[in-house]
Amino acid sequence: MLSRLSLNRILLRLNFSKIHWMDSESSSSGDGPRPQFGNRHLRNPDDVFQHNAWDDVQWDEEQQEHAKKMVEQNSEVRMCVDEAQRIEAEAGHLWDKFYGIHQNRFFKDRQWLFTEFPELLPKEGNQERINVLEVGCGVGNSVIPLVRTVADPNFFVYACDFSETAVKLLQQEDSYDESRCKGFVCDVTAEEWPTPFPPLSLDHVLLVFMLSAVHPDNMGHVARQLFNYLKPGGMVFFRDYGRYDLAQLRFKKGKCITDNFYMRGDGTRAYFFTKEDLRRIFCEAGFQEEQMLEDRRLQVNRGQKLKMYRVWIQAKFRKPM
Ligand SMILES: C[S@@+](CC[C@H](N)C(=O)[O-])C[C@H]1O[C@@H](n2cnc3c(N)ncnc32)[C@H](O)[C@@H]1O
Repeated sequence: MLSRLSLNRILLRLNFSKIHWMDSESSSSGDGPRPQFGNRHLRNPDDVFQHNAWDDVQWDEEQQEHAKKMVEQNSEVRMCVDEAQRIEAEAGHLWDKFYGIHQNRFFKDRQWLFTEFPELLPKEGNQERINVLEVGCGVGNSVIPLVRTVADPNFFVYACDFSETAVKLLQQEDSYDESRCKGFVCDVTAEEWPTPFPPLSLDHVLLVFMLSAVHPDNMGHVARQLFNYLKPGGMVFFRDYGRYDLAQLRFKKGKCITDNFYMRGDGTRAYFFTKEDLRRIFCEAGFQEEQMLEDRRLQVNRGQKLKMYRVWIQAKFRKPM
């Protein structure tokens, strides 16, 4: 008889060939409003196919070791330096191509923003201007729900991306209204950012599945720039891939650019974070950690009896007063 772990491994392998590389990310963070972390726990393994997803799934040592081994294997052969430099130089163009193909159909609206990041919402009776920036906003899957949900006219959302196509698609959305939000093109790895706001003017910054697309060597620069643009007391809200997420385990050899940073089939890239990575990036830039959660979820395809072990990291960092 197959042990539970062997069975899991087989299912995991099956999943690799069946799901699209970013499927999970597109629905990664939940598709609708949901209570905060960890509300549905799998207590009896026999119940696994009773629901589509289980929260706060514990990995035993064997599963952790297996994931580590898979990453060691898929990182064995590194991408050649010339190729890595080419895709770094073409990163904006490759994302532009991505949005040219998928338009606004790929990512789902990030409705969970309001349950995971309630601090974003203005307090009742707010009279002060609140400036939010979403970095790497894509076609507006966070910006548009924010503008639609928050009626407060003092709440303003800036949104930037280095893909011109993405920013144009955002600007074509029905709810895009320049009295409430402003999309602009900006490569956040650049030394200077062409922002429509001055330093020390932002209340909140959103980084939603965005920093993972940036080369690890440039992440510190992004954090330092955000620090400069935030007001004292301002917050960064972060959610992205965690180390050993299914999406990391399924990369083939030769796709690894540098530790835990890979190129997908379409040339876009993804990093898989640990809590320590984030602490290093943001605390070295001057931020204080307010929240750090690892969201380990088991997603289930009940029809095909498949299990997908997902890992995401959610964090909040504050610029000290
Ligand atoms: C996985 S998508 C996430 C989009 C959006 N935040 C969402 O949640 O749907 C990553 C986004 O980051 C943008 N991006 C990647 N590197 C960037 C850079 N250096 N400067 C600005 N945007 C960047 C990409 O164009 C893409 O829209």
